[in-house]
Amino acid sequence: MRPSTPYLRVDVARLDDNITRVADAARAAGVQVWPHAKTHKTPEIARRQLEAGAGGLTVATIGEAEVFADAGVTDLFLALPIWPDPAQAGRLRVLADRTALRVAVDSVEGAHHLAACLDGARVSVLVEVDSGQHRTGVPATDVATVAVAAAGAGLAIEGAFTFPGHSYSPDTTTSAAVDEASALTEAVSQLRSAGIEPTVLSGGSTPSLQASLAAPGVTTELRPGVYVFGDAQQWELGRTTPDRVALTCRATVISHTGGRVVLDSGSKALGADRAPYASGFGRILDDPDARIVQLSEHHAVVETDRSYPLGSVVDVVPNHVCNAVNLADILYADHGPGLEAWPVAARGR
Ligand SMILES: Cc1ncc(COP(=O)(O)O)c(C=O)c1O
Repeated sequence: MRPSTPYLRVDVARLDDNITRVADAARAAGVQVWPHAKTHKTPEIARRQLEAGAGGLTVATIGEAEVFADAGVTDLFLALPIWPDPAQAGRLRVLADRTALRVAVDSVEGAHHLAACLDGARVSVLVEVDSGQHRTGVPATDVATVAVAAAGAGLAIEGAFTFPGHSYSPDTTTSAAVDEASALTEAVSQLRSAGIEPTVLSGGSTPSLQASLAAPGVTTELRPGVYVFGDAQQWELGRTTPDRVALTCRATVISHTGGRVVLDSGSKALGADRAPYASGFGRILDDPDARIVQLSEHHAVVETDRSYPLGSVVDVVPNHVCNAVNLADILYADHGPGLEAWPVAARGR
């Protein structure tokens, strides 16, 4: 029995291939992989990443950390400089007791607040460095100020991390990796001058991954998330190919209005992201010239030269797979015959 469309289908052979390929390349480059689990939110996929040699999992929220801790993951990096409220502080202390937990900080005040929230519970800290995305993180030259304050507040400093998110543009996938390496190199020198020897220097995004692995420099680990599935953004950035895309949204052709093909996979299934460089609201896996030109909650309008009879089923590649997964309760894992339901256990967490 197949689920009704729209649903998210995982090609397990491609998923495993994506995991293994990156694990092998990282091993050859001498760096660890700490995959960002916000992409899949799914314990079954985390298990496969850890079995392939991942050092631990990166998460974005306390809720994700709790779900993966419940699934038996022992090493977690909460890579967001959170400002815990009292309830979150209590949850962090519980997590600190049951896992080896690292937390991001990017300010002196944040370090003091985190230390107060932890009240002696043991977590280690990575100071976030801005390598060019200009989201969170301090300039590499200010790393020591935050690290010294955190150490003074009783936190254990493990090192520094950066997210080279400015890799999400056709011209910067490689230069972002160069920025990542130089920011982390500067962070090492700043930390050493303050008498702190970093053991972890963490980088990584999916578009910059290939370049980071080719020249890791001081980087000790990388945290790609999207690499596990690939999506239309990575396809259009030249960072995956359709034959490696491991997650699609199965959709049905429901209308031919205006000579176009209308699918039942709207923004509530695909997510609504459309980057400035995107050619549309997703891609059709087996029809590379097709364009999804219009998206509403329950409709995707496709322009294509091919003919798709009403009722036919197509595989849509979401633009940004993390957001599509975040809209689903279940991923349907296709191993060949039959589908297995994998709960997106950290959804809503
Ligand atoms: C801090 C951090 N690390 C790693 C990642 C993973 O990068 P990507 O989504 O390009 O795979 C992200 C993604 O947003 C992130 O915010």
